[in-house]
Amino acid sequence: MKFLFTATLAALASVVAASPTPTVNIQKRATADDVADIGYATTNGGTSGGSGGTTTTVSDFASFSEAAKGDAKKIIIVDGNLSGEGSVRIGDNTSVLGKKGATITGINLTIKGVKNVIVRNLVLSKVVGGDCITVQEATNVWLDHLDISGDLSVDKDYYDGLIDITHAADWVTVSNVHFHDHWKASLVGHSDSNADEDTGTLHVTYANNKWTNISSRTPSIRFGTGHIYNNYYSTITTSGVNTRMGAIVLVESSTFVDAKRAITSLDSDITGSAEVRDVDLGGSTNDAPEGSFGTVPYEYEAVGAAGAEAATAGAGATLDF
Ligand SMILES: *[C@@H]1O[C@H](CO)[C@@H](O)[C@H](O)[C@H]1NC(C)=O
Ligand SMILES: *[C@@H]1O[C@H](CO)[C@@H](O)[C@H](O)[C@H]1NC(C)=O
Ligand SMILES: *[C@@H]1O[C@H](CO)[C@@H](O)[C@H](O)[C@H]1NC(C)=O
Ligand SMILES: *[C@@H]1O[C@H](CO)[C@@H](O)[C@H](O)[C@H]1NC(C)=O
Repeated sequence: MKFLFTATLAALASVVAASPTPTVNIQKRATADDVADIGYATTNGGTSGGSGGTTTTVSDFASFSEAAKGDAKKIIIVDGNLSGEGSVRIGDNTSVLGKKGATITGINLTIKGVKNVIVRNLVLSKVVGGDCITVQEATNVWLDHLDISGDLSVDKDYYDGLIDITHAADWVTVSNVHFHDHWKASLVGHSDSNADEDTGTLHVTYANNKWTNISSRTPSIRFGTGHIYNNYYSTITTSGVNTRMGAIVLVESSTFVDAKRAITSLDSDITGSAEVRDVDLGGSTNDAPEGSFGTVPYEYEAVGAAGAEAATAGAGATLDF
């Protein structure tokens, strides 16, 4: 494993330039055949989505739903502003990629009971009564370069999560995502009573994400294993990383600004634990029980707390396919 602690963006840039497969992934690398190169999605055989498969461009809900069916290798390019009500179920071996400016409003993407899915470069928002992205009973999922939000002026339960990962989902990476303006951002493990299904699963990496104006769950994690690095948090109004029900997290190389209970263990009968390295709490607190995380089975580059803001400057749907 490689640990690179660099204090400045200039130092980071030189590291990235020198490396043939940069894992910090802050550049706007974007080809439709890209495979996951970061976090737990690179393990368990890796996540290639529809790389090498057929390409279909969709610009409405009905054709998107149709194109997403089945387990053939396929790349779906979302073009334009899609809105509606309901869910698009994404099949196995699929990459869903937003063309520049593509938005999906009111429709949730459901990645359930499948393997090998990539979703990148979309602006997703406002799914009434549901999550923007739901990952359940699914393995090898890479969610990258998304702008994903709700609205804090509505009731806290009007929308549900932004990205919720539950029911023994595993080997998931959430990278370069801008989560903003929402009550309950990201839930890993949905219930205290789901130990039988979830224990030993829910390995999730959160890398290079920006979280702005969020009430809670950045993420909240039960039972699982969470590696949270190079994340930049600003205005977290209730609680941030919540480790519970025996979950173990490593929070490192991240910065909190104006956060309440930045790292904690709340609202479950059993706590989780956190190992915290090189994190700037910005005057907030870490009251989670201290844990010993061990190692992750992939290489990664920690930019250091002072580099987290710069490392997340490209978070959101900033790619150009
Ligand atoms: C999508 O919506 C944005 C913002 O309203 C608008 O600027 C853009 O032209 C729309 N794109 C298409 C393809 O209609
Ligand atoms: C797609 O996914 C299924 C189930 O995960 C797998 O068995 C199959 O080999 C894959 N198909 C291709 C073409 O890769
Ligand atoms: C998907 O979105 C619809 C609203 O468009 C919602 O009713 C449903 O509960 C959502 N499903 C999930 C799993 O969030
Ligand atoms: C956060 O959201 C609230 C409610 O919409 C808004 O009033 C406030 O200005 C936002 N704060 C920031 C820092 O964007």
